[in-house]
Amino acid sequence: MRIDIITVLPELLKSPFEASILKRAIDANLVQVHFHNLRDYTTDNYKSVDDYQFGGGAGMVMMIEPIDKCISKLKSERQYDEIIYMTPDGERLEQKLANQISLKENIIILCGHYKGVDQRVRDKFITKEISIGDYVLSGGELGAAVLCDAVIRLIPGVLGNETSALTDSFQDNLLAPPIYTRPREYKGMKVPEVLFSGNFPKIEKWREEQAMARTKELRPDLLKE
Ligand code: ADE
Repeated sequence: MRIDIITVLPELLKSPFEASILKRAIDANLVQVHFHNLRDYTTDNYKSVDDYQFGGGAGMVMMIEPIDKCISKLKSERQYDEIIYMTPDGERLEQKLANQISLKENIIILCGHYKGVDQRVRDKFITKEISIGDYVLSGGELGAAVLCDAVIRLIPGVLGNETSALTDSFQDNLLAPPIYTRPREYKGMKVPEVLFSGNFPKIEKWREEQAMARTKELRPDLLKE
């Protein structure tokens, strides 16, 4: 998978890709992530990427020309499956959407800033608009980092144990069951006995019951879907 991220603040985005699982995935060439600074596609001396709104109103708008130049250059080099715009009014990012995107070959992610982008960018170039939640961030970069993390960890080979993403919370609309490690007892707090039974069907059944009970208590909305 190849991810091209278009941003006015590449420095805000880079660190999540320089540590931990994302770095390992990039080093193992399971995913390629490229950053494109929108200011490199400007035509004036001030490297302007935004301008005042037509019709008046507070807040600047990202101009179409640098975005067109950047996206057109990328599209001349390869085919893209999806051109995503990070915006609070997009489709809410949930596990199902992350799963779908993890199957793509090449994607572009455009990070919005200021009031957002000129509507013509959305009409002409964007194939999917994604929000990471009902709150407004100061730019799309943190949203893009969240999206990339959720997607990259699903790419086969990225997680050590191939099945481990499949047992995450949300993968079957259930929260994950409780997990334990050593010591078996800590300050009087014990690990449930069933986990030492060696009876794997029984352990599996216990985990399913726990997942269901947790979901009922904490996220009953997931069971209605
Ligand atoms: N840009 C600003 N707010 C955002 C959000 N909630 N999700 C994605 N991109 C954003």
